[in-house]
Amino acid sequence: MKEKIEAYKKEIADFTAESLEELENFRIKFLSKKGLIPALFADFRNIPKEEKKEMGQQLNELKQMVQARIADLKSELETKEEQKEAIQDLSLPVDWRDLGARHPVSVVKNEINEIFKRSGFTVAEGPEIEDDFHNFSALNFPPEHPARDMQDTFFVEKDPDIALRTHTSSVQVRVMENNQPPIRIIAPGRVFRNEAISARAHCIFHQVEGLYVDKDVSFADMKQTLMYFAKEMFGENTKIRLRPSYFPFTEPSAEMDVSCNICGGKGCNVCKYTGFLEIMGCGMVDPNVLEACGIDSEIYSGFAFGMGVERIAMLKYQVNDLRLYFENDMRFLKQFDKSLD
Ligand code: PHE
Repeated sequence: MKEKIEAYKKEIADFTAESLEELENFRIKFLSKKGLIPALFADFRNIPKEEKKEMGQQLNELKQMVQARIADLKSELETKEEQKEAIQDLSLPVDWRDLGARHPVSVVKNEINEIFKRSGFTVAEGPEIEDDFHNFSALNFPPEHPARDMQDTFFVEKDPDIALRTHTSSVQVRVMENNQPPIRIIAPGRVFRNEAISARAHCIFHQVEGLYVDKDVSFADMKQTLMYFAKEMFGENTKIRLRPSYFPFTEPSAEMDVSCNICGGKGCNVCKYTGFLEIMGCGMVDPNVLEACGIDSEIYSGFAFGMGVERIAMLKYQVNDLRLYFENDMRFLKQFDKSLD
């Protein structure tokens, strides 16, 4: 029996199979009911008692060895088989991976950026944590202005000089400090305001603000630039309307409305039957702001504007609850951009 076991062990170790069929034959030869190993177990009854312990062990080892060898060869052959199939059929579809989709706020922000880039604006960026000078003082906010109140601004670590920016006008200040005109930039980015979250307000949102400073820049230049934007964004037939308003950093200041893109200006519940939708603030840069940033207001003038990206997205997509843009529910987000342009 000992010799047989040794001989089988060698045979098993040396065995290789080219096909699953060959492997199956090998399995039958050793392990089937009438195979070599059950035959050895049958002989086991006849061997002398004193050899039983050792032989029993050897037999078990042999059985395990053949089982392990078969399992190894089987997985090897199966992998080979799969690879062969894959190489043979190049038309097989690849594994489908779910494509991501761009966030609707990013889609709209990119669209706004592209429109202004076509008018010669470049993109400028600045920090989200700002000091009082860049967020307020340089923009002509008097020290007691209510927008500096704890209610609107998130201060960082109780330092009244450091806050999360409440608008990206701070980026305009930084650009003017470091460059002389002509300046033509847009400042897209995240801004923060200490507001209770509701369908119409959020403590985080996105803005695109813009600034143009040069010799002889007029209100008419602003109107033309913003009208081009409105038509590109909302359609060729869009009309604009400028209403007087107030911002500390612009004089004169205005709010810009566009004709309602839902009802075409006839009046509906989206525009509250006014025919117009408010989309941004704008105005001529106050000379005090130019001077605070080291630009000679006797030589240069400029205009500035700023809009909320979520507001534009709400109008574009007719989604009127701001909170949906921040919850990151995949079922909501997947609806907007499939192209990943
Ligand atoms: N900074 C203003 C805001 O946050 C928007 C604005 C920018 C208004 C430039 C006029 C000019 O609402």
